[in-house]
Amino acid sequence: MKPKVFIAKPISRQVENYIAEHCEYKIWREEERIPDDILFREIQDVQGLMTPKAKVTESFIKQAPNLKIISHISVGYDTLDTELMAKHKIIGTHTPYVLDHTVADLIFGLILSSSRRISQLDHYVKDGKWNKLDDPSFLSKDVHHATLGIIGMGRIGEQVAKRAAQGFDMNVLYYNRRPRPEVEEKYGLKRESMEQLLKKSDFVLTMVPLTEETHHLIGARELKQMKEDALLINASRGQVVDEKALIHALKEGIIGGAGLDVFEKEPVDPSNSLLKMDNVVTTPHIGSATAQAREAMALKAAENLVAGVTGGKPKNIVKELKHLG
Ligand code: DGY
Repeated sequence: MKPKVFIAKPISRQVENYIAEHCEYKIWREEERIPDDILFREIQDVQGLMTPKAKVTESFIKQAPNLKIISHISVGYDTLDTELMAKHKIIGTHTPYVLDHTVADLIFGLILSSSRRISQLDHYVKDGKWNKLDDPSFLSKDVHHATLGIIGMGRIGEQVAKRAAQGFDMNVLYYNRRPRPEVEEKYGLKRESMEQLLKKSDFVLTMVPLTEETHHLIGARELKQMKEDALLINASRGQVVDEKALIHALKEGIIGGAGLDVFEKEPVDPSNSLLKMDNVVTTPHIGSATAQAREAMALKAAENLVAGVTGGKPKNIVKELKHLG
């Protein structure tokens, strides 16, 4: 008998075929998110769940007494309660590596768009306001040779550093608990204290996972340490930045602007002041949203799922639960 699994989001035929070879499965095929009551019903007799977001609570686990693995279809897994999962011996996996370049590309889009005011001036042209050639009000800030400070030098941070140093001749600083001498050497980066990085950078990028320690890592104090015309770029998790403090800093001219792919509340509230600001570029959490990256993530999640329910060792167990693998 094949193990039973539930897939909480539509997947491609290729990924489905792979799961079908090894498991008895059901899939949520609708585009809108699966409602909690349906999810709770579907997980009752499964050993594996593949999902883009898991709200793991005690009552969720009670519904699924046979659950062995939650295969998360994303690299960030802040929605997994790893303590609770460890208590119930449920493995959690994620999808690292396959989206690093994709997210780094989007980050560069935010850097370029916020500094060269691409989104803002796109609206200007399309609104029919362009009636004077080479208006001085079009002036913006160079990206090349500017200083980029990356907070969190993981795999994605490294890809951003590569683009910055090798493609744009930027001076790249980073702040990371663990030194990364091999990356320093490869791309000519310099490790700095958080304070020095904030003081020196023209662009500050937050690229850390969301944990208790990184919640509101960038708040009023950190924003005050940044240059007056510096741009803050966030494509990790909204909660890494204190949004109230950011709104205040942008309104008061404490920093120059922001490029944001993530928000404290998602989807973002339409009344959020950030959406009214010309010096803020926004995207709807699309860091990994290319067809290729999403397919690779789904395939990786499927491989983890199948390994977890067939007695194999999933490759990408999250570090807090490695001991269960
Ligand atoms: C991830 O995988 O954590 C990304 O945020 C999804 O876009």
